[in-house]
Amino acid sequence: MTARPDSPEIADAAGSWRSAYVHIPFCSRRCPYCDFAVVTPVETELPHRDYVQAVITEIGMSPPWEPLDAVSVGGGTPSVVDPALLGDVLAALDARFGLVPGAEIGLEANPEDWQPRRAEALREAGFRRVSFGAQSFDPIVLDALGRNHEPADIDQAVATARACGFESVNLDLIFGTPGESVASWSATLDRALSLEPDHLSTYALTVERGTELSRSVLDGSPAPDPDDQADKYELAQEAIGRAGLVQYEVSNHARPGHHVRYNLGTWAGGEYVGVGLGAHGHRSGVRTRNIRRLDRYMEAVGRGELPHAGVEPVADPAREAVFLGLRRMAGVQVTPVVAAFLESPEGERFVEAGVVDVNGSRLRITRPLLADAVMREFVG
Ligand SMILES: C[S@@+](CC[C@H](N)C(=O)[O-])C[C@H]1O[C@@H](n2cnc3c(N)ncnc32)[C@H](O)[C@@H]1O
Ligand code: SF4
Repeated sequence: MTARPDSPEIADAAGSWRSAYVHIPFCSRRCPYCDFAVVTPVETELPHRDYVQAVITEIGMSPPWEPLDAVSVGGGTPSVVDPALLGDVLAALDARFGLVPGAEIGLEANPEDWQPRRAEALREAGFRRVSFGAQSFDPIVLDALGRNHEPADIDQAVATARACGFESVNLDLIFGTPGESVASWSATLDRALSLEPDHLSTYALTVERGTELSRSVLDGSPAPDPDDQADKYELAQEAIGRAGLVQYEVSNHARPGHHVRYNLGTWAGGEYVGVGLGAHGHRSGVRTRNIRRLDRYMEAVGRGELPHAGVEPVADPAREAVFLGLRRMAGVQVTPVVAAFLESPEGERFVEAGVVDVNGSRLRITRPLLADAVMREFVG
């Protein structure tokens, strides 16, 4: 029987999985809430081919490694790039590191880009998993989020992915956009679940500093309401659970066998190489952070240098493993670091309030909405 995505066995095994994250920064336009490393056509005329060549050069500069268990191509919007170029990136990863048989190979896509020919070419290039930025099935909410697609594009994209043989399909949803009613969110969930996705990610709209959304909130537009988001979070857990998907992290749900190896690896403190603009990596006890400005990234790679903006050793791996792992429903093993936290006044307070639960040798968060608060106390 396939193990449940929230099983401790999978959560712990993930710490030894090796992954690669490849960042493709191109987007047709910038969504008002997004603070990822993104460039739009008005911001750069750089040909996609030149950027992908730089990414391949960066892969070639990375120290050799053992074969990868998972590859995640994210963005930005990888689906706006020629599939043949993304195939070249996969070939470069395979040549440099190798890929284990049946490796997870996934990409992020926007529904409006997902025409059959493109999807087929991506499948032929080796992608097996696709994650669609659906966000909502309410046209008013999609408009408020500045999205380029309509609800019907999402239905079409999922059908096309299935027809082309994608083995795992995810939908990303955002809840708590100002103006979204509870009925609208409930209808979005119903419609998303009716498409029978293998994986569903639900994110509360966050106002990130420096975004257009944050400027409009500072100018007096309504901000997302935490109580409304808490209600919608609970609503989502009920609806998604009823549909048979298992919550395995604060924001992530999957059918058995469809957990995301790349994500589970990062939450388990596993190692991953990060290539491309603004990408983060974690190898040999060191965290790397790539340059976020496109011209500087291209210049650094052009000079034959790894395009790092920051390189920091992981100061306290045991503590960090707990900090990352507590967002998973499988929780973390009760290591000496965890035991010390549980004996601290903050730890005792959380246990008494029923926010965390120690069951045998594992510590779990029982109220995922409070995960961030527990982690803040833990980090101190
Ligand atoms: C950075 S996007 C990249 C994928 C693709 N370009 C898209 O927009 O769907 C990955 C996901 O992060 C989530 N996301 C990005 N910014 C967010 C924010 N400020 N609040 C909540 N979710 C956000 C969205 O659900 C999005 O699908
Ligand atoms: S949310 Fe996605 S499509 Fe929108 S700007 Fe960010 S990466 Fe691009």
